[in-house]
Amino acid sequence: EEQTSPTSSSSSPPPSSHFIGRKEDVVQAKRVTKLVGGRDVLVLCHQGKLHAMDMRCYHTGGPLQEGDIEEFDGRMCIVCPWHKYKITLAEGEGLYQAVNPSATPPKPTWRSKGVKQRVHQVTEINRDVYVTFNDSPDTIDSDFYQTERYRATINKA
Ligand code: FES
Repeated sequence: EEQTSPTSSSSSPPPSSHFIGRKEDVVQAKRVTKLVGGRDVLVLCHQGKLHAMDMRCYHTGGPLQEGDIEEFDGRMCIVCPWHKYKITLAEGEGLYQAVNPSATPPKPTWRSKGVKQRVHQVTEINRDVYVTFNDSPDTIDSDFYQTERYRATINKA
């Protein structure tokens, strides 16, 4: 739905945000990957909503841009194409199924490993899409695959 904002001339991108592309291009492509500010990010559009996260899976660096999006336990996840790890779009939590062996029959339940994938904030201004990095100082597992050292190893391969 096309919307024009009367105050559009006064809006500017948030500080330290990175331009990804035009909204219509992102929506049409559904997945966009871009190296911005030293990070490979994946921006995806799912059911009209934009999400951003580190592009490489926290497990061993799989290409999340090729993952399917599915709902598990009521939460939208991207499923890594390499080993099928499930990552929530909204928080970057790793989900897994735990089985209680003492239950009869053993009943699997969904559990969270906590935040494993760094998810970033998406802002839309005048139909331009920007990503602002999640600057949580805590190390998140997916950070490893954003280092120059890691890039050097895959570029050599
Ligand atoms: Fe993503 Fe293993 S690399 S599940």
